[in-house]
Amino acid sequence: MTKRIIPISLPVTGEEEWQSTREPLINGWLTSGPKVREFEQLFAQRHHVKHALAVTSATTALHLALMALEVGPGDEVIVPAFTWVSTANVVLYCGGNVVFADVDPLTFNIDPEDLKKRITSRTKVIIPVHLFGLCANMDAIKAIAGDIPIVEDGACAAGAAFKGIPAGALGTIGCFSFHPRKSVTTGEGGMITTNDDRLADVMSMMRNHGASISEEQRHHGTRPYILPNFNMLGYNYRMTDIQGAVGVVQIKKLDQFIDERAKWAAFYIEQLAEIKWLRTPQVSVDYKHGWQSFVTFVDESKAPFSRNEIMEKLQEHGISTRPGTHAVHMLSFYAEKYKIKPRDYSGAQEANDYSMSIPLHNRMVAEDYDYVVKFLKSL
Ligand SMILES: Cc1ncc(COP(=O)(O)O)c(C=O)c1O
Repeated sequence: MTKRIIPISLPVTGEEEWQSTREPLINGWLTSGPKVREFEQLFAQRHHVKHALAVTSATTALHLALMALEVGPGDEVIVPAFTWVSTANVVLYCGGNVVFADVDPLTFNIDPEDLKKRITSRTKVIIPVHLFGLCANMDAIKAIAGDIPIVEDGACAAGAAFKGIPAGALGTIGCFSFHPRKSVTTGEGGMITTNDDRLADVMSMMRNHGASISEEQRHHGTRPYILPNFNMLGYNYRMTDIQGAVGVVQIKKLDQFIDERAKWAAFYIEQLAEIKWLRTPQVSVDYKHGWQSFVTFVDESKAPFSRNEIMEKLQEHGISTRPGTHAVHMLSFYAEKYKIKPRDYSGAQEANDYSMSIPLHNRMVAEDYDYVVKFLKSL
């Protein structure tokens, strides 16, 4: 086999995104303005929500969501133990306590049975994560949550759906990421979705220092020289119009990107089925997977090498891999803070130790997928 170099992910940006950024760069409106508004409208339409609010990242989206839901000292927020660290960090930004729930290593998503055990009278919010683009089981989670608000961490799940309802429209608030490893990107960036007018209003002000009107409204209003009122604590989490211009082009390509990823995910699933030590993602009929990543599971009891040795061999042959993500309860900051042992969340520990993301993105060609499959079969 001739060696190929296949990165774990590469964004698809080019001439159209480049051209789109000309407008803000030339007209001089660089902070949140018309391009961000257009991006928000397209995002809201695609995800069947009333409001979409662009911010600087999924992390800041999650922070605003928890602030708007008034998470504070003494409040508990339940997050899955296997997710990106910021799903948990935002709880601490608000002064709340992180309560981890275990995940099901088959789906890598929060295990509803374990979630049920973690609910207390202090549970203020539940954050299910739609990891790698696969929605969490929202029916089960909603039944358990009752009146407790749900913030979907859909950082990886633009365009995904559960029972026909898009991610971001399944809970009280949804949060998305446009980091370059996501299916659509603005470099860095995030989006908040909600159908709740009051929460949308609050989060819209909070992302703009707590100002009662946006910069654009003020500048184009009759009295641009009067500063707005600030009646709440706010942050500067505004997306620039340069990023908005990229987002407007990217969001229109989302479904095409997902369809192409879904085609190659099906190819991997079929081709890799004969490798008994490698489990590929299982997607039941209720789910539309967004395929942000293709995350496999290495059964070391049957595998010729350990997961890490396999990742090393793949790397030597030009194929980038990564663990799916990390078990947050095993990161020293959280392990020490809450005195947690790895086995306290055995599903998350397994996912941490044996998950392996293999390349699946829109810059790959058929020969790349063949190369990955052939190499894995040769081990
Ligand atoms: C599940 C999850 N939540 C949150 C984030 C944070 O996203 P951002 O980098 O946009 O802050 C990520 C990023 O990888 C993620 O995977």
